[in-house]
Amino acid sequence: MSDGGYGTIVMEKIIINGAKPLRGTIEVSGAKNAALPILLAALMVDDKCVIENVPCISDVTLSLEILSSMGCRIRMLTKNTVEIDSRFATGGVSPYDLVRRMRGSYYLIGAELGRWGRAYVGLPGGCDIGIRPIDQHIKGFRALGAEISVEGGYVKASADELSGASIYFDNVTVGGTINVMIAAARAKGTTVIENAAREPHIVDLANFLNSCGAKITGAGTDVIKIKGVDKLYGSTYAIIPDMIEAGTYMCAAAATRGRLRVNNVIPKHLESISAKLEEMGVEIIENDDSVEVCGNGELRRVNIKTLPYPGFPTDMNPQIGVLLCLAKGVSCLTESIYDNRFKYVEELKRMGASITVDGSTAIIEGGGLLSAAPVKALDLRAGAAMIIAGLAAKGRTEIEDIHFIERGYDDIVGKLRSVGADIKKVIIPSAVSFEKAN
Ligand code: EPU
Repeated sequence: MSDGGYGTIVMEKIIINGAKPLRGTIEVSGAKNAALPILLAALMVDDKCVIENVPCISDVTLSLEILSSMGCRIRMLTKNTVEIDSRFATGGVSPYDLVRRMRGSYYLIGAELGRWGRAYVGLPGGCDIGIRPIDQHIKGFRALGAEISVEGGYVKASADELSGASIYFDNVTVGGTINVMIAAARAKGTTVIENAAREPHIVDLANFLNSCGAKITGAGTDVIKIKGVDKLYGSTYAIIPDMIEAGTYMCAAAATRGRLRVNNVIPKHLESISAKLEEMGVEIIENDDSVEVCGNGELRRVNIKTLPYPGFPTDMNPQIGVLLCLAKGVSCLTESIYDNRFKYVEELKRMGASITVDGSTAIIEGGGLLSAAPVKALDLRAGAAMIIAGLAAKGRTEIEDIHFIERGYDDIVGKLRSVGADIKKVIIPSAVSFEKAN
Protein backbone atom coordinates (compact mmCIF):
# COMPACT_ATOMS: atom_id res chain seq x y z
CA MET A 1 0.00 0.00 0.00
CA SER A 2 1.20 3.52 -0.66
CA ASP A 3 0.09 7.12 -0.33
CA GLY A 4 -1.12 8.31 -3.74
CA GLY A 5 0.20 11.76 -2.94
CA TYR A 6 -3.03 13.45 -1.86
CA GLY A 7 -3.82 11.58 1.32
CA THR A 8 -5.37 8.62 -0.48
CA ILE A 9 -4.11 5.14 0.23
CA VAL A 10 -3.41 3.28 -2.99
CA MET A 11 -3.41 -0.49 -3.08
CA GLU A 12 -1.87 -2.62 -5.80
CA LYS A 13 -3.39 -6.01 -6.46
CA ILE A 14 -3.06 -8.85 -8.89
CA ILE A 15 -6.37 -10.13 -10.21
CA ILE A 16 -6.63 -13.52 -11.87
CA ASN A 17 -9.53 -15.25 -13.58
CA GLY A 18 -8.29 -18.79 -13.33
CA ALA A 19 -8.79 -22.31 -14.72
CA LYS A 20 -7.24 -21.51 -18.09
CA PRO A 21 -4.40 -23.74 -19.32
CA LEU A 22 -1.13 -21.88 -19.98
CA ARG A 23 0.18 -22.41 -23.50
CA GLY A 24 3.18 -21.04 -25.34
CA THR A 25 6.72 -19.95 -24.57
CA ILE A 26 7.83 -18.02 -21.52
CA GLU A 27 11.26 -16.41 -21.04
CA VAL A 28 13.16 -16.67 -17.77
CA SER A 29 15.13 -13.65 -16.52
CA GLY A 30 18.49 -13.49 -14.76
CA ALA A 31 18.69 -15.04 -11.29
CA LYS A 32 17.83 -12.77 -8.37
CA ASN A 33 20.06 -14.65 -5.96
CA ALA A 34 23.02 -14.38 -8.35
CA ALA A 35 22.34 -10.77 -9.34
CA LEU A 36 22.34 -9.39 -5.79
CA PRO A 37 25.79 -10.68 -4.75
CA ILE A 38 27.31 -9.92 -8.17
CA LEU A 39 26.02 -6.32 -8.21
CA LEU A 40 27.18 -5.71 -4.64
CA ALA A 41 30.53 -7.45 -5.22
CA ALA A 42 31.14 -4.96 -8.05
CA LEU A 43 31.73 -2.45 -5.24
CA MET A 44 34.93 -4.31 -4.45
CA VAL A 45 36.27 -4.22 -7.98
CA ASP A 46 37.31 -0.55 -7.93
CA ASP A 47 36.78 -0.33 -11.71
CA LYS A 48 33.95 -0.43 -14.29
CA CYS A 49 31.89 -3.64 -14.55
CA VAL A 50 29.15 -4.31 -17.08
CA ILE A 51 26.60 -6.82 -15.83
CA GLU A 52 24.20 -8.37 -18.34
CA ASN A 53 20.97 -10.35 -17.95
CA VAL A 54 20.07 -8.37 -14.82
CA PRO A 55 16.42 -9.01 -13.83
CA CYS A 56 14.05 -6.01 -13.51
CA ILE A 57 12.99 -6.60 -9.91
CA SER A 58 12.74 -4.29 -6.93
CA ASP A 59 15.60 -5.98 -5.01
CA VAL A 60 17.91 -5.10 -7.94
CA THR A 61 16.66 -1.50 -8.00
CA LEU A 62 17.34 -1.29 -4.28
CA SER A 63 20.85 -2.74 -4.70
CA LEU A 64 21.64 -0.16 -7.38
CA GLU A 65 20.26 2.63 -5.15
CA ILE A 66 22.53 1.46 -2.34
CA LEU A 67 25.57 1.40 -4.66
CA SER A 68 24.69 4.82 -6.04
CA SER A 69 24.33 6.30 -2.55
CA MET A 70 27.83 4.99 -1.81
CA GLY A 71 29.29 6.89 -4.76
CA CYS A 72 29.19 4.25 -7.51
CA ARG A 73 28.20 5.58 -10.91
CA ILE A 74 25.36 3.49 -12.30
CA ARG A 75 24.34 3.55 -15.97
CA MET A 76 21.59 1.37 -17.42
CA LEU A 77 22.97 0.49 -20.87
CA THR A 78 19.84 -1.48 -21.77
CA LYS A 79 16.83 -2.67 -19.75
CA ASN A 80 18.85 -5.64 -18.49
CA THR A 81 22.44 -4.39 -18.70
CA VAL A 82 23.99 -2.16 -16.09
CA GLU A 83 27.40 -0.54 -15.86
CA ILE A 84 28.73 -0.06 -12.34
CA ASP A 85 31.71 2.21 -11.95
CA SER A 86 32.89 1.86 -8.38
CA ARG A 87 36.18 3.76 -8.72
CA PHE A 88 34.86 6.76 -6.82
CA ALA A 89 32.86 4.88 -4.19
CA THR A 90 33.44 5.88 -0.61
CA GLY A 91 33.33 2.96 1.68
CA GLY A 92 32.78 1.69 5.07
CA VAL A 93 29.26 3.04 5.65
CA SER A 94 26.06 2.02 3.87
CA PRO A 95 22.62 3.65 4.09
CA TYR A 96 20.66 2.00 6.90
CA ASP A 97 17.13 2.66 5.60
CA LEU A 98 17.90 1.04 2.22
CA VAL A 99 19.96 -1.84 3.60
CA ARG A 100 17.32 -3.00 6.07
CA ARG A 101 14.77 -3.46 3.27
CA MET A 102 16.61 -6.39 1.71
CA ARG A 103 18.27 -9.62 2.80
CA GLY A 104 21.04 -9.61 0.19
CA SER A 105 22.36 -6.28 1.52
CA TYR A 106 24.51 -8.26 3.96
CA TYR A 107 26.90 -8.86 1.04
CA LEU A 108 27.99 -5.26 1.59
CA ILE A 109 29.82 -6.43 4.71
CA GLY A 110 32.06 -8.74 2.65
CA ALA A 111 32.49 -6.21 -0.16
CA GLU A 112 33.32 -3.24 2.11
CA LEU A 113 35.67 -5.32 4.25
CA GLY A 114 37.36 -6.70 1.13
CA ARG A 115 37.92 -3.26 -0.40
CA TRP A 116 38.40 -0.90 2.55
CA GLY A 117 39.12 -3.20 5.49
CA ARG A 118 36.12 -1.80 7.32
CA ALA A 119 32.35 -2.05 7.05
CA TYR A 120 29.42 -0.46 8.83
CA VAL A 121 26.25 -2.08 7.51
CA GLY A 122 22.73 -2.16 8.95
CA LEU A 123 21.43 -5.61 9.82
CA PRO A 124 19.61 -6.96 6.75
CA GLY A 125 15.86 -7.25 6.22
CA GLY A 126 14.18 -9.67 3.80
CA CYS A 127 11.24 -12.08 3.84
CA ASP A 128 10.03 -13.36 7.19
CA ILE A 129 10.46 -17.07 6.52
CA GLY A 130 12.05 -17.93 9.84
CA ILE A 131 15.00 -17.12 12.05
CA ARG A 132 17.82 -15.93 9.80
CA PRO A 133 20.97 -15.42 11.88
CA ILE A 134 24.31 -14.31 10.38
CA ASP A 135 26.55 -15.97 12.97
CA GLN A 136 28.31 -18.05 10.30
CA HIS A 137 29.10 -14.94 8.23
CA ILE A 138 30.59 -13.36 11.36
CA LYS A 139 32.54 -16.51 12.17
CA GLY A 140 34.02 -16.39 8.65
CA PHE A 141 34.98 -12.71 8.82
CA ARG A 142 36.57 -13.22 12.24
CA ALA A 143 38.61 -16.13 10.85
CA LEU A 144 39.89 -13.74 8.16
CA GLY A 145 41.11 -11.44 10.93
CA ALA A 146 38.27 -8.93 11.17
CA GLU A 147 36.98 -7.54 14.43
CA ILE A 148 33.20 -7.61 14.39
CA SER A 149 30.56 -6.22 16.67
CA VAL A 150 26.81 -5.75 16.34
CA GLU A 151 25.72 -2.40 17.80
CA GLY A 152 22.58 -0.31 17.41
CA GLY A 153 21.27 -2.33 14.48
CA TYR A 154 24.58 -2.20 12.62
CA VAL A 155 27.31 -4.73 11.94
CA LYS A 156 30.66 -3.02 12.48
CA ALA A 157 33.69 -4.76 11.03
CA SER A 158 37.31 -3.75 10.67
CA ALA A 159 40.64 -5.35 9.90
CA ASP A 160 44.15 -3.95 9.41
CA GLU A 161 44.58 -6.66 6.83
CA LEU A 162 42.38 -9.63 5.91
CA SER A 163 44.39 -12.87 5.87
CA GLY A 164 43.39 -16.16 4.29
CA ALA A 165 42.09 -18.81 6.71
CA SER A 166 40.37 -22.20 6.90
CA ILE A 167 36.68 -21.88 7.68
CA TYR A 168 34.32 -24.76 8.39
CA PHE A 169 30.67 -23.67 8.34
CA ASP A 170 28.54 -25.29 11.05
CA ASN A 171 25.66 -25.48 8.61
CA VAL A 172 25.37 -25.04 4.88
CA THR A 173 24.74 -21.35 4.26
CA VAL A 174 24.37 -19.69 0.89
CA GLY A 175 24.77 -16.16 2.24
CA GLY A 176 27.71 -17.07 4.48
CA THR A 177 29.56 -18.83 1.66
CA ILE A 178 29.03 -15.88 -0.68
CA ASN A 179 29.99 -13.22 1.87
CA VAL A 180 33.23 -14.92 2.88
CA MET A 181 34.10 -15.59 -0.77
CA ILE A 182 33.68 -11.87 -1.56
CA ALA A 183 35.83 -10.67 1.36
CA ALA A 184 38.49 -13.36 0.84
CA ALA A 185 38.91 -12.53 -2.86
CA ARG A 186 41.18 -9.61 -1.86
CA ALA A 187 42.61 -11.06 1.38
CA LYS A 188 46.28 -11.90 1.74
CA GLY A 189 46.85 -15.63 1.24
CA THR A 190 44.52 -18.54 0.66
CA THR A 191 41.11 -19.10 2.23
CA VAL A 192 39.48 -22.52 2.28
CA ILE A 193 35.73 -22.74 2.94
CA GLU A 194 34.57 -26.20 3.97
CA ASN A 195 30.94 -27.33 4.12
CA ALA A 196 30.30 -24.60 1.56
CA ALA A 197 26.93 -24.18 -0.14
CA ARG A 198 26.85 -25.46 -3.73
CA GLU A 199 24.02 -23.44 -5.29
CA PRO A 200 24.42 -22.36 -8.96
CA HIS A 201 24.51 -18.71 -7.85
CA ILE A 202 27.64 -19.44 -5.82
CA VAL A 203 29.31 -20.74 -8.97
CA ASP A 204 28.04 -17.68 -10.84
CA LEU A 205 29.54 -15.28 -8.30
CA ALA A 206 32.86 -17.17 -8.40
CA ASN A 207 32.85 -16.96 -12.22
CA PHE A 208 32.15 -13.22 -12.07
CA LEU A 209 34.93 -12.59 -9.53
CA ASN A 210 37.32 -14.76 -11.56
CA SER A 211 36.42 -12.74 -14.67
CA CYS A 212 37.68 -9.72 -12.67
CA GLY A 213 40.97 -11.46 -11.84
CA ALA A 214 40.09 -13.35 -8.63
CA LYS A 215 41.46 -16.85 -8.10
CA ILE A 216 38.60 -19.02 -6.88
CA THR A 217 38.38 -22.77 -7.42
CA GLY A 218 35.95 -25.43 -6.23
CA ALA A 219 32.74 -23.34 -6.37
CA GLY A 220 29.90 -25.80 -6.86
CA THR A 221 31.55 -28.33 -4.51
CA ASP A 222 31.56 -28.21 -0.72
CA VAL A 223 35.20 -27.05 -0.58
CA ILE A 224 36.01 -23.65 -2.11
CA LYS A 225 39.55 -22.26 -2.32
CA ILE A 226 40.12 -18.55 -2.70
CA LYS A 227 43.63 -17.29 -3.36
CA GLY A 228 43.52 -13.61 -2.49
CA VAL A 229 44.64 -11.02 -5.06
CA ASP A 230 45.68 -7.37 -4.55
CA LYS A 231 43.40 -5.93 -7.16
CA LEU A 232 40.32 -6.84 -9.17
CA TYR A 233 39.70 -5.48 -12.69
CA GLY A 234 36.48 -4.52 -14.44
CA SER A 235 34.79 -7.07 -16.69
CA THR A 236 31.62 -7.79 -18.64
CA TYR A 237 29.60 -10.64 -17.23
CA ALA A 238 26.15 -12.19 -17.87
CA ILE A 239 24.10 -13.53 -14.95
CA ILE A 240 22.72 -17.09 -15.09
CA PRO A 241 18.98 -17.73 -15.54
CA ASP A 242 16.78 -17.85 -12.44
CA MET A 243 16.08 -21.48 -11.55
CA ILE A 244 13.34 -20.53 -9.08
CA GLU A 245 11.52 -18.34 -11.59
CA ALA A 246 11.75 -21.24 -14.06
CA GLY A 247 10.48 -23.71 -11.45
CA THR A 248 7.58 -21.37 -10.65
CA TYR A 249 6.46 -21.34 -14.31
CA MET A 250 6.90 -25.11 -14.53
CA CYS A 251 4.53 -25.51 -11.57
CA ALA A 252 2.10 -23.00 -13.12
CA ALA A 253 2.01 -25.05 -16.33
CA ALA A 254 1.33 -28.26 -14.40
CA ALA A 255 -1.28 -26.62 -12.14
CA THR A 256 -3.29 -25.33 -15.11
CA ARG A 257 -2.88 -28.57 -17.08
CA GLY A 258 -1.14 -26.49 -19.70
CA ARG A 259 1.82 -26.88 -22.01
CA LEU A 260 4.71 -24.42 -21.68
CA ARG A 261 8.16 -24.08 -23.12
CA VAL A 262 10.26 -22.40 -20.44
CA ASN A 263 13.10 -20.68 -22.29
CA ASN A 264 16.52 -19.44 -21.18
CA VAL A 265 17.17 -22.02 -18.46
CA ILE A 266 20.03 -24.32 -17.50
CA PRO A 267 18.15 -27.66 -17.27
CA LYS A 268 20.82 -29.12 -14.95
CA HIS A 269 19.87 -26.51 -12.31
CA LEU A 270 16.25 -27.66 -12.50
CA GLU A 271 16.90 -31.37 -12.00
CA SER A 272 15.42 -31.67 -8.49
CA ILE A 273 12.30 -29.76 -9.59
CA SER A 274 11.92 -31.67 -12.87
CA ALA A 275 12.37 -35.01 -11.05
CA LYS A 276 9.55 -34.27 -8.59
CA LEU A 277 7.23 -33.00 -11.32
CA GLU A 278 7.87 -36.16 -13.34
CA GLU A 279 7.16 -38.28 -10.26
CA MET A 280 3.83 -36.42 -10.06
CA GLY A 281 3.02 -37.41 -13.64
CA VAL A 282 4.03 -34.19 -15.41
CA GLU A 283 5.80 -34.68 -18.73
CA ILE A 284 9.13 -32.80 -18.94
CA ILE A 285 11.29 -32.57 -22.04
CA GLU A 286 14.77 -31.10 -21.54
CA ASN A 287 16.41 -29.22 -24.39
CA ASP A 288 19.74 -27.38 -24.38
CA ASP A 289 18.45 -24.16 -22.87
CA SER A 290 14.75 -24.76 -22.38
CA VAL A 291 12.37 -27.24 -20.78
CA GLU A 292 8.94 -28.18 -22.08
CA VAL A 293 6.33 -28.93 -19.46
CA CYS A 294 3.11 -30.73 -20.25
CA GLY A 295 0.59 -31.15 -17.45
CA ASN A 296 -2.23 -32.98 -19.25
CA GLY A 297 -2.61 -36.02 -17.01
CA GLU A 298 -3.78 -36.46 -13.44
CA LEU A 299 -1.30 -35.27 -10.80
CA ARG A 300 -0.04 -37.96 -8.40
CA ARG A 301 0.87 -37.46 -4.72
CA VAL A 302 4.55 -37.37 -3.71
CA ASN A 303 6.61 -36.67 -0.60
CA ILE A 304 9.13 -33.83 -0.77
CA LYS A 305 11.82 -32.53 1.58
CA THR A 306 13.58 -29.23 0.96
CA LEU A 307 17.38 -29.38 1.15
CA PRO A 308 20.41 -27.31 0.15
CA TYR A 309 21.36 -27.63 -3.56
CA PRO A 310 21.29 -30.07 -5.31
CA GLY A 311 18.29 -31.03 -3.16
CA PHE A 312 14.79 -29.66 -3.67
CA PRO A 313 14.97 -25.87 -3.06
CA THR A 314 13.23 -24.25 -0.10
CA ASP A 315 12.41 -21.37 -2.45
CA MET A 316 10.08 -23.78 -4.32
CA ASN A 317 8.27 -25.01 -1.19
CA PRO A 318 5.15 -22.82 -1.54
CA GLN A 319 4.82 -23.27 -5.31
CA ILE A 320 5.05 -27.08 -5.16
CA GLY A 321 2.74 -26.95 -2.12
CA VAL A 322 -0.02 -25.63 -4.40
CA LEU A 323 0.57 -28.43 -6.87
CA LEU A 324 0.32 -31.04 -4.11
CA CYS A 325 -3.13 -29.61 -3.22
CA LEU A 326 -4.18 -30.50 -6.77
CA ALA A 327 -2.63 -34.00 -6.76
CA LYS A 328 -4.64 -37.09 -5.89
CA GLY A 329 -3.85 -38.46 -2.43
CA VAL A 330 -1.98 -37.34 0.68
CA SER A 331 1.48 -35.80 0.27
CA CYS A 332 4.04 -34.78 2.91
CA LEU A 333 6.08 -31.63 2.30
CA THR A 334 8.93 -31.25 4.79
CA GLU A 335 10.85 -28.00 5.19
CA SER A 336 14.39 -28.42 6.46
CA ILE A 337 15.88 -24.93 5.94
CA TYR A 338 13.50 -22.36 7.49
CA ASP A 339 11.14 -22.59 10.44
CA ASN A 340 8.44 -20.27 9.09
CA ARG A 341 7.98 -21.32 5.48
CA PHE A 342 4.39 -22.53 5.85
CA LYS A 343 2.68 -19.17 6.43
CA TYR A 344 1.16 -19.53 2.96
CA VAL A 345 -0.87 -22.53 4.14
CA GLU A 346 -3.47 -20.32 5.86
CA GLU A 347 -3.94 -18.35 2.63
CA LEU A 348 -4.28 -21.55 0.59
CA LYS A 349 -6.91 -22.78 3.06
CA ARG A 350 -9.01 -19.73 2.08
CA MET A 351 -9.00 -21.27 -1.39
CA GLY A 352 -10.24 -24.62 -0.09
CA ALA A 353 -6.92 -26.43 0.46
CA SER A 354 -6.83 -29.16 3.07
CA ILE A 355 -3.45 -28.91 4.82
CA THR A 356 -2.26 -29.67 8.35
CA VAL A 357 1.13 -28.44 9.45
CA ASP A 358 2.82 -30.66 11.99
CA GLY A 359 6.18 -29.17 12.99
CA SER A 360 8.29 -28.91 9.87
CA THR A 361 5.96 -31.04 7.74
CA ALA A 362 2.81 -30.06 5.90
CA ILE A 363 0.42 -32.94 5.36
CA ILE A 364 -1.50 -32.07 2.23
CA GLU A 365 -4.74 -33.83 1.32
CA GLY A 366 -4.92 -33.25 -2.38
CA GLY A 367 -7.37 -34.03 -5.08
CA GLY A 368 -9.90 -31.28 -4.45
CA LEU A 369 -10.37 -28.22 -6.59
CA LEU A 370 -9.08 -24.88 -5.37
CA SER A 371 -11.65 -22.09 -5.34
CA ALA A 372 -10.88 -18.43 -6.03
CA ALA A 373 -10.64 -16.09 -3.05
CA PRO A 374 -9.09 -12.82 -1.88
CA VAL A 375 -5.63 -13.70 -0.52
CA LYS A 376 -2.36 -12.07 0.43
CA ALA A 377 1.23 -12.54 -0.71
CA LEU A 378 2.86 -13.08 2.69
CA ASP A 379 6.39 -13.25 1.30
CA LEU A 380 8.06 -13.53 -2.11
CA ARG A 381 7.61 -17.25 -2.77
CA ALA A 382 4.31 -17.42 -0.87
CA GLY A 383 3.11 -14.72 -3.27
CA ALA A 384 4.21 -16.77 -6.28
CA ALA A 385 2.26 -19.69 -4.83
CA MET A 386 -0.89 -17.54 -4.62
CA ILE A 387 -0.51 -16.70 -8.31
CA ILE A 388 -0.23 -20.40 -9.21
CA ALA A 389 -3.27 -21.20 -7.04
CA GLY A 390 -5.20 -18.33 -8.67
CA LEU A 391 -4.29 -19.58 -12.15
CA ALA A 392 -5.57 -23.06 -11.25
CA ALA A 393 -8.74 -22.02 -9.43
CA LYS A 394 -12.03 -21.32 -11.15
CA GLY A 395 -13.18 -17.75 -10.65
CA ARG A 396 -11.59 -14.46 -9.60
CA THR A 397 -8.64 -14.46 -7.20
CA GLU A 398 -7.38 -11.15 -5.84
CA ILE A 399 -3.88 -11.01 -4.37
CA GLU A 400 -2.80 -8.20 -2.05
CA ASP A 401 0.67 -7.15 -0.88
CA ILE A 402 2.16 -7.87 -4.28
CA HIS A 403 5.26 -5.78 -3.53
CA PHE A 404 6.70 -9.00 -2.09
CA ILE A 405 6.32 -10.71 -5.48
CA GLU A 406 7.93 -7.77 -7.27
CA ARG A 407 11.06 -8.20 -5.16
CA GLY A 408 11.97 -11.31 -7.12
CA TYR A 409 9.85 -11.84 -10.25
CA ASP A 410 10.57 -9.80 -13.38
CA ASP A 411 7.22 -8.83 -14.99
CA ILE A 412 5.43 -11.96 -13.83
CA VAL A 413 2.05 -10.54 -14.86
CA GLY A 414 3.17 -9.66 -18.40
CA LYS A 415 4.93 -12.99 -18.88
CA LEU A 416 1.92 -15.03 -17.72
CA ARG A 417 -0.45 -12.96 -19.89
CA SER A 418 1.73 -13.76 -22.89
CA VAL A 419 1.00 -17.48 -22.38
CA GLY A 420 -2.74 -17.12 -22.04
CA ALA A 421 -3.33 -16.28 -18.38
CA ASP A 422 -6.16 -13.90 -17.56
CA ILE A 423 -4.12 -11.90 -15.07
CA LYS A 424 -3.69 -8.18 -14.48
CA LYS A 425 -2.22 -5.77 -11.98
CA VAL A 426 -4.55 -3.07 -10.78
CA ILE A 427 -4.05 0.04 -8.72
CA ILE A 428 -7.02 0.70 -6.48
CA PRO A 429 -7.47 3.89 -4.49
CA SER A 430 -8.76 2.72 -1.15
CA ALA A 431 -12.13 3.92 0.18
CA VAL A 432 -10.18 5.27 3.12
CA SER A 433 -8.64 8.68 2.63
CA PHE A 434 -7.16 10.99 5.17
CA GLU A 435 -6.10 14.57 5.60
CA LYS A 436 -2.39 15.16 5.26
CA ALA A 437 -0.65 16.97 8.07
CA ASN A 438 1.38 19.94 6.89
N1 EPU B 1 21.94 -19.82 8.91
C1 EPU B 1 22.53 -19.78 10.15
N2 EPU B 1 23.58 -18.92 10.35
C2 EPU B 1 24.05 -18.11 9.37
C3 EPU B 1 23.45 -18.16 8.09
C4 EPU B 1 22.39 -19.04 7.90
O1 EPU B 1 22.14 -20.49 11.07
O2 EPU B 1 25.00 -17.36 9.62
C5 EPU B 1 20.83 -20.76 8.69
C6 EPU B 1 19.55 -20.05 8.30
O3 EPU B 1 18.81 -19.66 9.42
C7 EPU B 1 18.83 -21.10 7.47
C8 EPU B 1 19.96 -21.84 6.81
O4 EPU B 1 21.14 -21.55 7.56
O5 EPU B 1 18.18 -21.98 8.33
C9 EPU B 1 20.21 -21.46 5.36
O6 EPU B 1 20.39 -20.06 5.25
P1 EPU B 1 21.23 -19.44 4.05
O7 EPU B 1 22.32 -18.63 4.65
O8 EPU B 1 21.58 -20.52 3.11
O9 EPU B 1 20.15 -18.50 3.38
P2 EPU B 1 20.28 -16.98 2.99
O10 EPU B 1 21.62 -16.70 2.42
O11 EPU B 1 19.79 -16.10 4.08
C10 EPU B 1 19.57 -17.34 0.51
C11 EPU B 1 18.54 -16.75 -0.39
C12 EPU B 1 17.16 -17.25 0.00
C13 EPU B 1 17.15 -18.76 -0.02
C14 EPU B 1 18.30 -19.34 0.82
C15 EPU B 1 18.42 -20.84 0.73
C16 EPU B 1 19.43 -14.60 -1.04
C17 EPU B 1 19.39 -13.12 -0.92
N3 EPU B 1 18.57 -15.30 -0.30
O12 EPU B 1 19.23 -16.89 1.81
O13 EPU B 1 16.29 -16.75 -0.98
O14 EPU B 1 15.94 -19.23 0.51
O15 EPU B 1 19.55 -18.74 0.41
O16 EPU B 1 18.62 -21.26 -0.56
O17 EPU B 1 20.20 -15.15 -1.82
C18 EPU B 1 14.22 -16.20 -1.88
O18 EPU B 1 14.81 -15.98 -2.95
O19 EPU B 1 12.97 -16.23 -1.80
C19 EPU B 1 14.99 -16.43 -0.68
C20 EPU B 1 14.47 -16.38 0.54
